[in-house]
Formats: sequence, structure tokens, C-alpha cells
Amino acid sequence: MNNPYIKLISTPNKVDVLQVTHPKFTAQISRFGGHLLSYATKQQDNYLWLSNTAVLDGSKAIRGGVPICWPWFGPAQGEFSGEPQHGYIRNVNWQLQTIEGDDTELTLELAPELSDELKEKLGLSARIRFHFKDDLTITLSTTNECEQPRPLSQAIHSYFYVRDINNTKLMGLENSQYIDKLTNTTETQHGAVQISGSVDRVYLSNAPKLMLDDESRKIIISGSGHDSVVVWNPWRELAANMADFDDNGYQTMICVEMANTQGLTLAPGKTYHLSQTIGG
Ligand code: BG6
Repeated sequence: MNNPYIKLISTPNKVDVLQVTHPKFTAQISRFGGHLLSYATKQQDNYLWLSNTAVLDGSKAIRGGVPICWPWFGPAQGEFSGEPQHGYIRNVNWQLQTIEGDDTELTLELAPELSDELKEKLGLSARIRFHFKDDLTITLSTTNECEQPRPLSQAIHSYFYVRDINNTKLMGLENSQYIDKLTNTTETQHGAVQISGSVDRVYLSNAPKLMLDDESRKIIISGSGHDSVVVWNPWRELAANMADFDDNGYQTMICVEMANTQGLTLAPGKTYHLSQTIGG
């Protein structure tokens, strides 16, 4: 890899990590999952939460950072029923395809290594692009490579670090309807989202800009191509039941995910872009 800002770190029995050290920011991207593990700028500490007990040997999807859910979000359904939750690509290695940039910006593109059999079955291909400038834009692009329309759902499943979830507000979803996955009801959001217990919600919103305020900083989360914003915090009990979620971790994280949950159909030959920008 011939780029002054990027180094591949390979450790036995651990996922390969692309260590990005740039004059404006640092980041780590795991080749397993095409998964961003950390991102900090000169002005801002790491934006992302990573579980202290995350499994980093490639045997399981990584808990924290930015997993990519594709080509479905949540439990597999229909022709894929029985397949893994959140799809395939957070559990496979990705190839670095291109690196471009200079001392003001940097772009990396990766593509998942899928078997020919799986590619054939899906009829879809995926690529991810990390564009670092003054902020970071993650774009997940999907192309329908076959001759039939194909269904797609997906999420950029970002885990944000917050100083204290009890003093954190997410703004930008006011008055939006959401599906509460814990009660299976549809509700309306009044005011900012504040979390004081287990939350698993699909906001039916394509709001282009949200703000996460934990009283120590304000993170701007922008998106495009999404039909939903998923907000998740498992809280104490669920976290304790997940071996890869450290017991107190729920106090310093919130997932805010730009997603397509409402049944998108991609026509033959077409490419769809879903993106999330993290900055502020
Ligand atoms: C969220 C879902 O996006 O991801 C939750 O809305 C789910 O229902 C959570 O529990 C974590 O999923 P996983 O498969 O990484 O444990």
C-alpha cells in the first residue's frame, strides 16, 4: 500500500486494520466488515464508541464503530429467512480498492469479498467510500447487477460515543413518527430524543441533519438516501446479556443509523447511494 497516510496493521488472530494518520484526522478501519472502528479529528476526540469486549478476531461482527448492514436491515426475511441478522457484509473481509487524496482530504473505497455463489444469489454488489475532509462522509453504494428488480434494505449502523447518555439529546427528529420495536407500536416523537431505558426505534424520517448533544460537544450527523433513522441503546439488562457489550457501555453510547427500512426496490443496472456524514 503506497500511501503516506495509511498503514495496514496485521496481527495474528486479529482483524487487519487500516490505520489512517492524516494531518487533519486519524481513523481505523477494519478490513473485516469494512468497519470503521474509530474517527477523531484535530479538534474532536473519537466520535465513535467501541465495546471494551468487542470480538476483534473476525469470528463475529464487531460491536461498536460503524457496522454496515446490507442487503437487509434487521432479521432476514422472505427468500433469505434464516440468514444472519443485518445481512452478510459485516462478517466478511473487504478489499481496499482505491485511495486518493492529499493533505487536505482523503478518500478510501472498499468492496466486500463475497463468494460468486452469494453474488449470484443476491444479484447486488456493494462498495463503501470513506471521504475524509473537514468531516467524514460514509457512502454505501449498491448496484443491481442482475436483470430483475432486487429488494434492498440497509443501515450505516453508527455507534456514537457520548459522555453520559443520561445527559444526551438527539435533535432533528421532533414530530416524526417512529416504530417502537420493543412494543410494536407506532408513536410520535415529542421534543428531542432522550434516553433513560432500553430504546429500539425506527424513525420514519429522512431528516437530512441531526444533532447529538452530550453537553460536552455537539455532533452533527447528516444523511442522504435514507428513509429512516434507527436509534438504539440496549440499556443495562440487554447489554449484560451480550458478551461483546461491556456491562456499563450502554451509559456512553447511542446508535444513530441512517437506514432504508421501508422496502426499497432497485431496478436492473441501477446504483443506490446511502450516506451518513459525521462532523461538528
Ligand atoms: C439495531 C436494531 O439497529 O441493532 C436492534 O434496531 C438490534 O434491534 C441492534 O438489537 C443490534 O443488532 P446486532 O445484530 O448487532 O446485535
